[in-house]
Amino acid sequence: MNNWERLSSKEIKNLQEDFLNWYDQNRRNLPWRENHDPYRIWISEIMLQQTRVVTVIDYFYRFMAAFPDIATLAVAPEEQLLKIWEGLGYYSRARNIQAAAKEMVEKFNGQMPRTLPEIASLKGIGPYTAGAIASIAFGLPEPAIDGNVMRVVSRLFEIDADIAKPASRKVFDQGMRQILPKTAPGDFNQAMMDLGSSICTPKSPNCAVCPLQNYCLAYQKGNQENYPVKTKKQPPKPMYYLAFAIENSEQEYGLIQRGEQGLLAKMWTFPLLEVTKEEYQRYQRSYNTGQLELERTADLDFVAEEALPELPNLAIDLGNVVWQTRHLGEISHIFSHLKWQVLLFYGRQIQENSPSDQVRWVSAHDFPNFVFPKPQQKLVALLQKNGAISKDF
Ligand code: ADE
Ligand code: SF4
Repeated sequence: MNNWERLSSKEIKNLQEDFLNWYDQNRRNLPWRENHDPYRIWISEIMLQQTRVVTVIDYFYRFMAAFPDIATLAVAPEEQLLKIWEGLGYYSRARNIQAAAKEMVEKFNGQMPRTLPEIASLKGIGPYTAGAIASIAFGLPEPAIDGNVMRVVSRLFEIDADIAKPASRKVFDQGMRQILPKTAPGDFNQAMMDLGSSICTPKSPNCAVCPLQNYCLAYQKGNQENYPVKTKKQPPKPMYYLAFAIENSEQEYGLIQRGEQGLLAKMWTFPLLEVTKEEYQRYQRSYNTGQLELERTADLDFVAEEALPELPNLAIDLGNVVWQTRHLGEISHIFSHLKWQVLLFYGRQIQENSPSDQVRWVSAHDFPNFVFPKPQQKLVALLQKNGAISKDF
């Protein structure tokens, strides 16, 4: 028998009342809580996956200003959508949002459908998001199980299921269904989210002020820190790249667009070359870091092209380039399952490449018109720090 089955209906009712009262008095004022508009709730829930509330707020306002309704979103240029999303990461979320908006226009009259299976059928809407929309927007008694909720529920009922395993979800789903009130499931779910982010935190939960204290089995035994049970997930896999900031005689930089599929699809970066860890470390060592010289007319500390023999492996014609002998430093960026380490080199084009649609030469003034993923933004900042681009481009 699971621990939640031991609760009497009286206890469940008290828990619900206490928790909803706490929520009424402590709920955070967030822009997507101003009303029950399913569109706003959907977009906010997608943004809030993997991203903190404080970060999401600005993005949410800008998104709603640009795409006030589902119909507008469905026909927006993808570039504009990605531009608004720029910096939030996990860009497939943005693409899925648009695909789902199109589905709603085609199949559901341009509205969010009102049943759980229909909501869950939309692109990019998994069980968590479907439960959140169904409960918050439509008042359906559906749980919305994410990491925060699993942590709270695991402590509340001393649930040993490993939250890293997808199969454990249904255990938490059952536990949540036991306590979720039919009257205000959306508020109850959001109370869970607030409790998980402010009080029932991963480390040192603040049980002294917790509205669920009287019901919490882990707290009663003082072993709340043993929950949730979670096996270690694999650390992100390291990937090593050289990046090439190449400036032509017009003070433009060569940018390339990533492929249609895969990580950071269709976004723009300096040319990147994947290398092994050993190669990367060799480049790091033998091209010690140095500042770019600021004086553009002065002879820079350049060596000839051969200094970077791997460059032709890029399979892109970048013209004839001379390289600064030192790299400009490195940046790193963690995607959920990958860690990029990128070493930045600077070169000057001394002879043009043959015209190609692979490379776009772009002045730093125009960078804001291109969708740059986070690592590229960090590389531009590094270049700026080195004085290659003025601060106010
Ligand atoms: N995290 C995920 N969904 C949320 C919501 N609706 N409010 C606050 N934090 C959240
Ligand atoms: Fe979490 Fe402590 Fe509240 Fe239990 S009493 S739900 S462990 S904060």
